[in-house]
This record gives sequence, structure tokens and C-alpha cells, in this order.
Amino acid sequence: MQTHTHTTTDDQHRAGIQAMFDLVAPRYDLMNDLMSMGTHRLWKRRVVGLASGSGTAVDLAGGTGDIAQLLVKNDWHVTVCDASQAMMKAGRERGVKNANWVAGLGEKLPFSDNSIDLLTIGFGLRNMTLPQEALCEAHRVLKPGGMFLCLEFSTPQAWLRPFYNWYSDHIIPRLGAAIAGRREAYRYLVDSIREFPDQETLKAQMQRAGFESVNYQNLSFGIAAIHQGSKAP
Ligand SMILES: C[S@@+](CC[C@H](N)C(=O)[O-])C[C@H]1O[C@@H](n2cnc3c(N)ncnc32)[C@H](O)[C@@H]1O
Repeated sequence: MQTHTHTTTDDQHRAGIQAMFDLVAPRYDLMNDLMSMGTHRLWKRRVVGLASGSGTAVDLAGGTGDIAQLLVKNDWHVTVCDASQAMMKAGRERGVKNANWVAGLGEKLPFSDNSIDLLTIGFGLRNMTLPQEALCEAHRVLKPGGMFLCLEFSTPQAWLRPFYNWYSDHIIPRLGAAIAGRREAYRYLVDSIREFPDQETLKAQMQRAGFESVNYQNLSFGIAAIHQGSKAP
């Protein structure tokens, strides 16, 4: 399902995001640990725990390879696919082993139809210029019966929002400036999280892309969520 005509503005947006990740790559892992106080590691384990069996897996927007590394340990044959060479280089230098690394865009995946058993994406969909196309692409490359798992920031429960908003506005940009020297990149992070669809909306988008049995579970009171769907057998 192609719903969008590609424009120069899309290309510029995508190039801007890619350049930003190239710049933050060297400090990316440290920033994740600091901002989430290590919680992102637990969330990623939860994702991999949902991936039953083994076979061929693509970790889309896989960055420095956190999810890929966990999948490799569980005997998956993993390919990290990411738009940023610098992010993947940081992952290889960190010692992520036995994974393949492929440069590619989520909106135009470099894999053939019906070829992959599992597609994971962690904190990547929010950064896609055309997320609905990325969902359709994920569906296209999965084998019938294949599984899609998406870990992404989402909408926290109402009682948590005042504290969460304060933390997002005051702490994250300051950490970004102090540790990564990139306040604007971490301001973008906060804005992109606010603009991203909530749990039910993302579920509907996955269904529109063709996924079946779509469901989600909240993590840390909805700060993040794992959406799960499968391609019809
Ligand atoms: C926030 S990082 C997530 C990295 C990793 N999955 C993790 O959870 O730590 C987002 C990643 O998405 C990649 N990315 C952004 N836009 C993309 C696109 N259109 N296609 C593929 N990757 C993209 C970036 O290069 C970056 O590595």
C-alpha cells in the first residue's frame, strides 16, 4: 500500500535525521543509559523475549545493535539495517558480533518480499520520514506467519505526565548538551516523542499496513510500548 508521493521535502527531512544520528553516534549508547537510567536495556530484553523460535531476523533502525546482540544470543540470524553508517560503525566497534550490517531506509527496505521471519524496530519508527510506508515495507518483507515487533516511546498514563514532561523539557536537553554536546538533537528527541501517535493509533496504523493479531503492551506506565503483529500465514 503506497499512500504517499515522495517529495524533495521528504528527502531533506530524511537527510537531516540521518545527519543528526551520524553526529550523536559516538555518545549514543552512553546517552541512552543516562537518560533512561538503564531502563532501555530492560525494554529491549522484553522485545527479544517476545520473539519465539529462531530464523532470519532484521533489526530495522538497529543503530548500534542492542536488539541485534540480544537476538544473536537467542540464535537468530540477524541483519541490522540502518540509515546511518556512523551508528552501525559505533555498534561494530563496541563489539556486537555475528550480525550483518546493511545500510538502508525503512521506507524502502533492501530485502525481497516474504523473506524474513522476524522484523524488530526499536525507537526507529518515530524517526522515519514516512512511518506508514515503513510499516508497509516491514509487512512486505516478512514471510507469511512472520512477526513484527516495534518498541517505541508512547503516551504515559495521565498521573505520570507532569513529572515526565518536566523531565523531558528540563533534564533531557541539558543531558544532551552536557554529554553529547548536541542540545538540539535531544530537543528533537523530546518533540518527536510528543508528536508520535499514541498506543491505539499506532495499532490502527499497523492494521492498515496489513498486520494481523495486532496488540501492544505498555512499559513503565506507557512511557514506552511494544506493539506486536504478524503477517497472515
Ligand atoms: C533512536 S535510534 C535507535 C537505535 C536502536 N534501535 C536502539 O534502540 O538503540 C534510531 C535509529 O534510526 C535510524 N533511522 C532514522 N531514520 C531512518 C530511516 N528512514 N531508515 C532506517 N533507519 C533510520 C537512525 O540512523 C538511528 O540509528
